[in-house]
Amino acid sequence: MPVDYEINAHKYWNDFYKIHENGFFKDRHWLFTEFPELAPGQSQDHLEDLPSDKRSEAPECRTSEDGPGLKIEQHKCSSNSLEREAQTAPVGENVTQKFSHLEICADEFPGSSATYRILEVGCGVGNTVFPILQTNNDPGLFVYCCDFSSTAIELVQTNSAYDPCRCFAFVHDLCDEDQSYPVPTSSLDIIILIFVLSAVVPDKMQKAINRLSRLLKPGGMMLLRDYGRHDMAQLRFKKGQCLSENFYVRGDGTRVYFFTQDELDTLFTTAGLEKVQNLVDRRLQVNRGKQLTMYRVWIQCKYRKPLLSSAGSVAPAPDA
Ligand SMILES: C[S@@+](CC[C@H](N)C(=O)[O-])C[C@H]1O[C@@H](n2cnc3c(N)ncnc32)[C@H](O)[C@@H]1O
Repeated sequence: MPVDYEINAHKYWNDFYKIHENGFFKDRHWLFTEFPELAPGQSQDHLEDLPSDKRSEAPECRTSEDGPGLKIEQHKCSSNSLEREAQTAPVGENVTQKFSHLEICADEFPGSSATYRILEVGCGVGNTVFPILQTNNDPGLFVYCCDFSSTAIELVQTNSAYDPCRCFAFVHDLCDEDQSYPVPTSSLDIIILIFVLSAVVPDKMQKAINRLSRLLKPGGMMLLRDYGRHDMAQLRFKKGQCLSENFYVRGDGTRVYFFTQDELDTLFTTAGLEKVQNLVDRRLQVNRGKQLTMYRVWIQCKYRKPLLSSAGSVAPAPDA
């Protein structure tokens, strides 16, 4: 029932991560070629050295529809390149960090002395965050990451690559209007959303993006990669799984929306951001074992907070 999926959304994701832990979503090896903003000025030369079979792996997170064991060959259908991979982060010893007492004031918050701040929302087990920490060697970097699944955040915090001096992972529901982020407004250079906005009920998306927009510095960027309309995963849902137009529930209770470019453009521009990129990436995936060919559709966006409003002052953030 739809209300249960909404109220208990975090619990369904907790259950998901209890089952799959780190093993389900793939590391984002295409991350730095598509989003160089995550490691500006860093050489991507090491990526050239990767074996070609590694470069051809599917770039998106595996979904429940794909199944955990699915082996995929991929053929690019669009001109938008997602061809190279970054290295993955190591795993191991426990590191924990507690900031539950934290009060946010302008001078004292985690990463307050950093010069380049990145926030990943809906970070899962850290498949984006750890490659950023590994690849971006800027001593002024600080990475924040949050998810409403406490199970996922615990997996991030106990990963051996988690360094509390460079990273702060926290439990946060991006739809919760009463919960504040642990950073001041206009403090972030980059906010990244990877296959997370699609997990949010459509009528809460705009306010969530508005709130995030306020956290960006003037000139800061919001980066997104997510499911596009008529992606294979959408076409494979059964009638009873449709909760509202283009919004579905999977067998495990997690939900997914399939966007058009225009819908995302409206969400970001309404939040006061300017388009830098909004593209569709279409791919043909071949599963030889199951003799299946699958058409994937993803959307990739980059939107910037304007430096100045037309009146010459710093652009105001939209109301929630
Ligand atoms: C498809 S997974 C993607 C995870 C991660 N971004 C990745 O690419 O590996 C969606 C993630 O969004 C999180 N999520 C869904 N709704 C959320 C919300 N309202 N607030 C915070 N996180 C949410 C889920 O817990 C899950 O970790």
